[in-house]
Amino acid sequence: MQTVLVTGGAGYVGSHACKALAAAGWRPVVYDDLSTGHPELVRWGPLEQGDIGDPARLDDVLARHRPQAVMHFAAASLVGPSVSDPAATYRRNVAGSLALLEAMRRHDIPVLVFSSSCAVYGLPERLPIAEDAPLHPVNPYGWSKAMVERLLDDFGAAYGLRSASLRYFNAAGADPMGEAGEDHEPETHLIPRALMAAAGLAPHLEVFGSDWPTADGTCVRDYVHVADLADWHVQALRHLLAGKESQILNLGSGRGWTVREVAATVERVTGRVVPLVLSPRRPGDPPVLVADPARARQVLGLLSPPAGLDAMVDTAWRWLCRRRA
Ligand code: UFG
Repeated sequence: MQTVLVTGGAGYVGSHACKALAAAGWRPVVYDDLSTGHPELVRWGPLEQGDIGDPARLDDVLARHRPQAVMHFAAASLVGPSVSDPAATYRRNVAGSLALLEAMRRHDIPVLVFSSSCAVYGLPERLPIAEDAPLHPVNPYGWSKAMVERLLDDFGAAYGLRSASLRYFNAAGADPMGEAGEDHEPETHLIPRALMAAAGLAPHLEVFGSDWPTADGTCVRDYVHVADLADWHVQALRHLLAGKESQILNLGSGRGWTVREVAATVERVTGRVVPLVLSPRRPGDPPVLVADPARARQVLGLLSPPAGLDAMVDTAWRWLCRRRA
């Protein structure tokens, strides 16, 4: 059985990727400092606790497990803290990724799947967003992802590293079997916050901006099921291990939902009320982000349509009920 090192494998998308890897016959070894990850989400292979910026620890783990490839999720993922403390975000996301890439070179690991973000596009000029859209991040988090993509490009040209930078739109939902899900502290994302309001764990859902130039005045996002994301990571890994070239791919569903549509879906799926409080716009929010997923579909050979919003809300609701029961 071949091994894949999964940095950040105790986190939200990383844990689902481990499950998908195991289902496809790989042995996922999780490398995670557990600063935001959860040890109970490491269920499909061993956990090696370590800091992404620690070369000696990376050497130790890579020498013992000898992975064929790396999936790299470990990162600071919140936009707000990246603005107030950019040094911490750049240290973890950029310096940490560089330490990982150098360790991979020392251990002759030629393939990496990277967890990038649609935050690299900033305020898009055109919709839907294709991969050749200009990169104009509007916060250090987005810049940190763009910088790592740059590192991957340069390491590819100079050292032959082959990589897939997967730019996610809004990851949502949970494992349909209830074995993994989203658990951030603090929770800033729309769907879990709407579910918390439905469950009575929050008094209401704040809607950040109701005067945007959209159908109902609220922001539009392209929500994509985390289980689909995980499968697409495995497809990207297969692509690279088959000797094919590096890729930058948008991972989205190609359609958008407004904040009000999400809240209405949560009410319908849960059978509960989500009290809404209309609040001012959140600084830095683009009004609309929707992926053009054509290239990803073609490169990764995706045939089945992505999961819809109901499935994302339903699995996330079941996860929340189980987690908070
Ligand atoms: N929103 C609310 N109320 C909330 C939370 C969110 O109205 O309580 C709105 C936001 O203003 C936004 C939409 O719901 O319009 C989605 O917000 P999220 O915070 O769930 O996600 P973002 O769209 O802000 O996600 C962005 C990038 C991702 C990046 C992520 C990092 O699109 O690529 O930030 O956290 F990964």
